[in-house]
Amino acid sequence: MPAKRKTPTAASGAHAGNGNGRPTTPAGAHPQMDIGFLPPGAKYPAGAVPAYAGPNANRQPNQSSKNNRKEDFDYRFEQHIFVPRRLRRVPTALVEAVNDFHFAMMNDTPRNEFYYNLLKRHIVPGESGVLEIGAGSGLLSMMAAKLDAKWVVAVEGSPEMAALARSNIATNGLQEKVKVLNMLSTELTPRDLPEPPSILVSEIFGTLLLGESALDYIADARQRLLRPTTKILPQHAVQYAVPIQCEALQQICTVSSWNGIDLSHVMALQDTTSVVFTKQYGFRMSSVPFTRLSEPIPLLTVDFAATKRSNFKKSYPIEVTATASGTAHAWLLYWIATDGEERMSTDPAETMHNFARDMQWGQALQLIDEGSDARMPTPLVMSAGATYNFNCALSSDRVVMSLHYTPPQAVRALENEADKRQEQ
Ligand SMILES: C[S@@+](CC[C@H](N)C(=O)[O-])C[C@H]1O[C@@H](n2cnc3c(N)ncnc32)[C@H](O)[C@@H]1O
Repeated sequence: MPAKRKTPTAASGAHAGNGNGRPTTPAGAHPQMDIGFLPPGAKYPAGAVPAYAGPNANRQPNQSSKNNRKEDFDYRFEQHIFVPRRLRRVPTALVEAVNDFHFAMMNDTPRNEFYYNLLKRHIVPGESGVLEIGAGSGLLSMMAAKLDAKWVVAVEGSPEMAALARSNIATNGLQEKVKVLNMLSTELTPRDLPEPPSILVSEIFGTLLLGESALDYIADARQRLLRPTTKILPQHAVQYAVPIQCEALQQICTVSSWNGIDLSHVMALQDTTSVVFTKQYGFRMSSVPFTRLSEPIPLLTVDFAATKRSNFKKSYPIEVTATASGTAHAWLLYWIATDGEERMSTDPAETMHNFARDMQWGQALQLIDEGSDARMPTPLVMSAGATYNFNCALSSDRVVMSLHYTPPQAVRALENEADKRQEQ
């Protein structure tokens, strides 16, 4: 099972969402049909398997019968390799999810404190009902219970994670307060809840803010399950992008020659379209020197209490005024979630002393091509004070973006076209 926060689909732009010109979901279809991200281990609800999911969509390894030895962790090792007894019969998917990102996530102490502070501020002891989308280990739901929420319902799409959450909740004696439902939030109905919740909490953000379809899942809950007064935690978030000069990145993403040997055919394959995660590159932006060449550009500004996917155009121009001179090697993408004074950020300036955050989220990068040579990527040289135009294209589900430099002559041509259209 691919680790959730490393999933390459969102990063590659081949996101499973409704992008790439696929038809939109018919009215009245199951809400899951139109949502791109399926949590690892979760199963599409009956009648809601989108065509793009492919024939094996629901045959994920942990949709197991208990007797399927192939899914046990020890099954993947040769017999002479020692596997501790505690791990032998545990589903591989669960061991991988916990080791690949849950440890880092739960050790991101400022992340935990961010959620604790939000819950503390908004829970009225004995009165607030709390719904959590994506229980994972159950940590946030247990926080809510300990803060004396009236009731807590936690939905979790992965059966193994749901079982793990239940064990944690029972060990902490909170089973009377917290009910874990193994289902996707899109399957939850008002009948599953004691009453409409006063608080919806979730941490389903990816390396890209919307990489795990947080906006779609929350908008669906808003529409079907919440009151207009339900407080959504966190409520606000912004996906930022900033052009950077970074020699270390350039060294691992370019090649022209070695010792007089021309390697330009290799360089011609440089991918300047996909957004790639730092974890895939194998380094942390917080430990690599780089220069920001402009102020951060807000690409997506989200109010989880109001924003819908359709609020974002599929393609829009952005203007960048350089604040420093240098070669723009890449766009650096990070996000900041806020609620009142609380903030949680993946900006490498803010993850410097938070190894866990870099390991679970990190940042996203897209290499820049100035585009003047059709055969070879060309870096964009920026001068402080000058303005540069780009186009930001979003996948249809508004999850993955791709930024493309628009040279001045193309900008002028677009302006002339617009003038002509106005005159007609
Ligand atoms: C990043 S983990 C967070 C776990 C826990 N809430 C925490 O903060 O420690 C997200 C979890 O949400 C689950 N998940 C994501 N989207 C979901 C959805 N729409 N419905 C149910 N579970 C979901 C994933 O399977 C994963 O276990």
